[in-house]
Amino acid sequence: MMIEEKFFPDRERLVQALANDCASKLQQGIKEQGQASFLVSGGSTPEPVYRELSKRPLPWSDITVALVDERWVDKTESGSNHAFIEKSLLQNAAAEAPFLGMKTPHASAAEGEADCERAYSELPRPFDVCILGMGSDGHTASLFPHAEGLEQALNTNGSQLCKAINAKQSEVTGSHTERMTLTLAAILQSRDIKLLITGEEKLKVYREALLGSDELEMPIRSILKQGHKAVTVYWAP
Ligand code: 6PG
Repeated sequence: MMIEEKFFPDRERLVQALANDCASKLQQGIKEQGQASFLVSGGSTPEPVYRELSKRPLPWSDITVALVDERWVDKTESGSNHAFIEKSLLQNAAAEAPFLGMKTPHASAAEGEADCERAYSELPRPFDVCILGMGSDGHTASLFPHAEGLEQALNTNGSQLCKAINAKQSEVTGSHTERMTLTLAAILQSRDIKLLITGEEKLKVYREALLGSDELEMPIRSILKQGHKAVTVYWAP
């Protein structure tokens, strides 16, 4: 398994280090391909990282920022990752970056998937950097335990990039059970996957995920077991 673990004594140091690592990988992507792509998750944990990165003087107009997942809400409604990324990352210097959201809600899941598929298939691949979070139930992106659509989203033999998911209502999902997410196959087309986790509870969940193998129970395992992929875990208390 090729997981690198970076443990920090506090969140401020984690934020600086992760922002530095993202910035240098994005710059490397631009140097090699003339442009770069940056896949970003929602959730509260990466917010200070996005705010820090937004101030960095990177060639943002060459960096396409794209969502990893979205709740089935319009961008004016609460829970919208589109709005969250606009407010946290796409400010200051980074306001120049082209941004690709996932259009929701759609008349049907199939329509939403087709729309997302069209848009994401135009992004240059491999993606350069993908930031993922993890929930206390072992989900990542919107790959939720035992969700409707999960098996298809985890199918790495397929070429599908986007999948509509219907998760079970829980403490983690709240009423936002319907989501659009990148599939595992899409996420694995990233040169660098950065998994951001904070706090003792999530550290326990992460360790439990490393020990077991049931991916439907803990979808984060599908990322962690990818031995050939550059996955870096960033943790702080
Ligand atoms: C989202 C996500 C999701 C998130 C985890 C962790 O849009 O909510 O992409 O997978 O990363 O739920 O969320 P927190 O950082 O808020 O704990």
